[in-house]
Amino acid sequence: MKKLLEILPGKILAIQTARCSSSNAVASTTSSIPKDGPGLDHFIAKASATQRRSLKIMPTATDSDSYLSPEDYHGRGRKVFYMTTGCQMNVNDMEIVRSMLCSSGYIETVSKVDADVILLMTCSIREGAEEKIWKELRKIRSASKRQIVGVLGCMAERVRHKILEKSKNVDVVAGPDAYRDLPRLLAVAGTGRNAINVQLSLDETYADVSPVRMDAESKNAFVSIMRGCDNMCTYCIVPLTRGRERSRPVSSILEEVRRLSEDGVKQITLLGQNVNSYRDLSETSFHLAASTSTVPGFRTVYKPKTGGVTFLSLLDQVSRIDPEMRIRFTSPHPKDFPMEVIHLIRDRPNICKQLHMPAQSGNDAILEVMGRGYTRELYLSLVDDVRTVLPDVALTSDFIAGFCGETEDAHRDTISLIHEVQYSFCYVFPYSMREKTKANYHLVDDVPEEVKRRRHEELATAFREQALAWNQKQMDREHLVLIEEKGTKRSQTAVSGRTDGGVKVIFENRVLPSEVNESEKELVTGDYVRVKINGATSQTLSAVPFSRTTLMKYYS
Ligand code: 5AD
Ligand code: SF4
Repeated sequence: MKKLLEILPGKILAIQTARCSSSNAVASTTSSIPKDGPGLDHFIAKASATQRRSLKIMPTATDSDSYLSPEDYHGRGRKVFYMTTGCQMNVNDMEIVRSMLCSSGYIETVSKVDADVILLMTCSIREGAEEKIWKELRKIRSASKRQIVGVLGCMAERVRHKILEKSKNVDVVAGPDAYRDLPRLLAVAGTGRNAINVQLSLDETYADVSPVRMDAESKNAFVSIMRGCDNMCTYCIVPLTRGRERSRPVSSILEEVRRLSEDGVKQITLLGQNVNSYRDLSETSFHLAASTSTVPGFRTVYKPKTGGVTFLSLLDQVSRIDPEMRIRFTSPHPKDFPMEVIHLIRDRPNICKQLHMPAQSGNDAILEVMGRGYTRELYLSLVDDVRTVLPDVALTSDFIAGFCGETEDAHRDTISLIHEVQYSFCYVFPYSMREKTKANYHLVDDVPEEVKRRRHEELATAFREQALAWNQKQMDREHLVLIEEKGTKRSQTAVSGRTDGGVKVIFENRVLPSEVNESEKELVTGDYVRVKINGATSQTLSAVPFSRTTLMKYYS
């Protein structure tokens, strides 16, 4: 079974079957809206109605297909094959899509050949991610059976009509804010016409949809808390494909986390493009009304945001729901780590001491043209502050190799930052120019491909050295591991899980010395185990298990 926490942008995921959530009812509404779907005015007019509605999926109808009645939106048992590429947000979005289509009478199949409908959740972050989708679409085109093919997500948003023109076998194109409309879009496609909805919304958070988890048996779950991004880093396509930042109401997040806790989920990851700039403005919080939560010194391209329920308050409330549930979050921006958040992480044993702090570059000139809003010095002083409060925190980061104007010296600054911070893990990417980004309009993609490749490799080598050093420091130390998987590639009798810092640990699933009850001797997913580390590579740790425990006991 694929580990969701290991998903890198651009990877195609294994498809899992899941139970259909019965909690979503299907309702319908008709309105006069353009062919591509509802426009911004429509959403603004509907904003208050959206706040009020609960647990309803509301497909919309257009004038041109008003002869289709809501009954036609029913899947009537048609089989859907789901394929997801990209980040964890995409995984969660596909769970939302599955939930909605399940409620609309579609059933899931794990056989692409058998499917009546193939849906691809796509990523646009780099050109390579889109190339994979084009390749996949060519493969589908050569299949003999006539299937409805839908392209969903960021690439649908970015490439839009061109997908329908370029790939003759695509029938449906739906952007990240148009999933409620899928039953209608599929019904239109069922009549032999193409259907497209790529309108972005100011308020869509799918707050009322219970995602159908990809792996219902797993003790891990993703909880989407906000969508979109207002940061406008100059290299990044995300603000254009996923739209403006908006936060899901805190009450619906807490309700989902409570339900997951009742279902036995042991680890949740709060998700958002800019997760720690969460701010639920549907709730008023008087004492916070005047305060922003940006780290002093860090700049933003937008006016400081104030009021509402902030990430600090959300994290506080989420972490109190189930003290045995580990809480992680991704992907944050360094500017949104006020010290109060760091103190809360210190004080709550179930909030993992692992922080993703994407630096992107270690050079001031490059950080400036990237529009990141901080200097190397400011970033390093934040790292220092964090480590003063959380001495054992595992820090991870993203870096881009070969951004516009990057000199050899600037590249070396990034390598030296990796060494200076001593990350436990880094994601490194060669820069890929994206159309319509600020960099595309104002900068020159002037680092030759082979230089980008070499610098990318050098960054990877630097972080692997750091990761190895970090992991070797754990030798002979005790850790609390949450078992996530039984059986590994090498051994069916092994189990694997993660430390609080997020590093993978593998060990034999054997009787623990302290266990007396025969029926409990096998470790299962969701068990917390005290282990002692006895081996380290740059990627994983190996260990000897001691005893099963609970999170509260371990930290008491
Ligand atoms: N080229 C390469 N990497 C990119 N990222 C975002 N946009 C680009 C791009 N155009 C990387 C950043 C971000 C991560 C999710 O993807 O490092 O943090
Ligand atoms: Fe892209 Fe920057 Fe927003 Fe991250 S913070 S999604 S890199 S624009």
